[in-house]
This record gives sequence, C-alpha cells and structure tokens, in this order.
Amino acid sequence: MSDFRIRPVDSDDGDWIAQFIDERWGAEFIAAHYEVFHCRDLPGFVATEGEEKVGLLTYKIVAGDCEIVSLDSLQPCMGVGTGLIDAVKTAAAESGCKRLWLVTTNDNMNALRFYQKRGFVLVKINRNAIEFARNLKAVPLIGAEGIPLRDEIELEMILGEAAC
Ligand SMILES: CC(C)(COP(=O)(O)OP(=O)(O)OC[C@H]1O[C@@H](n2cnc3c(N)ncnc32)[C@H](O)[C@@H]1OP(=O)(O)O)[C@@H](O)C(=O)NCCC(=O)NCCS
Repeated sequence: MSDFRIRPVDSDDGDWIAQFIDERWGAEFIAAHYEVFHCRDLPGFVATEGEEKVGLLTYKIVAGDCEIVSLDSLQPCMGVGTGLIDAVKTAAAESGCKRLWLVTTNDNMNALRFYQKRGFVLVKINRNAIEFARNLKAVPLIGAEGIPLRDEIELEMILGEAAC
C-alpha cells in the first residue's frame, strides 16, 4: 500500500533533480521542441514516501501557459503520476494559466494513454523533432516497444474545462 505525499520542489532538491533527470533521460537537461530545459532550475513537485523520493514533475510557465517539462514516477500504478498532475494543475490554475501542455515522444504509448485518460488532448505532431535532442545527447533510434523514435506529440489541457 503506497502512502506517498506530494510537496513543492525546494532549494535543497537541485542536485538530486539533476542526477534524477540524468538517470531517467540521459542528461541533466531535457531537450524538447528545440529548447533546452535545466530541470533543477524549474519549479516542480516531488512525490515522497517516507524519506524516499518516488516521483518528480517539473514545469515552466510562459505567457499564461504552463508546460510540464518532465514527469517521472518510480512507483508505477500507485497514483504518484496522477498526484503530480493534480498538483501542477492546481499550481497552474492558481498562477492564472489557461493552458497546461507538454510534449511526449511518438513511441511513448504509456504516456499517451496516461495523459489522455487524465483530460489531455492531442494537439500536434512535431515531425522529426527528436533530431534536436539527438544532437545534444544519446537518444536511441528505436524507442519503447520497438517503435522508431522520431517525433514529438504535443498534448494540452485547457484549464477550467471539465477533465477526467
Ligand atoms: C507516465 C507515468 C508518469 C505514470 O506514473 P504512475 O505513477 O504509474 O501513474 P499512476 O499510478 O497515477 O497511474 C498509472 C496507472 O495506475 C493506475 N493506478 C493508480 N493508482 C492505483 C492504485 N492505487 N492501485 C492500482 N492501480 C492504480 C491508474 O489507474 C493508471 O492507469 P491508467 O493510466 O490506465 O488510468 C510513469 O509511467 C512514468 O514515469 N513513465 C516514464 C516516464 C515518462 O514517460 N514520463 C512522461 C513523459 S512526457
């Protein structure tokens, strides 16, 4: 039985975030839609269970839009991912954002299922956008489930509208 808690990222989390992102995404930064994000410098939420950190979401607010830059759960299917999404939805709405959005990769069927079941809708495909990340760090040609890893898929949720 999981008994996790969600708290905002604090100033002591920086080194852990950099290492965690490196372990999960192959570099201390996220490269997406031709931008580089240093997650340790972003606001976010940490899921904890006791002393252990079991999940991280980082985000960036620009011009009333809130982008989820990273989302990782170390405790699959226990509600951690959903809890982190709920936390950023609240933070974005409280900051006056009208839109919550993110990109994921074309091979990430798990994420596409997860986000759509939580109220996100597909917006667009950035074809071959993964090449940008490949120029900066090692990104495999073949991704999850043997799918060629090529494109970014953008999803969004308009805040204030009914969501699952
Ligand atoms: C996508 C991701 C963040 C989901 O995190 P998670 O902690 O497993 O998410 P949740 O536990 O909230 O939900 C996952 C499933 O578990 C189920 N679940 C949640 N709590 C549960 C519980 N207590 N008991 C049983 N099942 C539960 C949910 O119904 C959900 O299934 P669904 O998506 O079919 O509805 C996680 O798989 C992950 O870190 N993936 C790798 C990184 C990644 O791809 N990130 C997104 C890139 S943009």
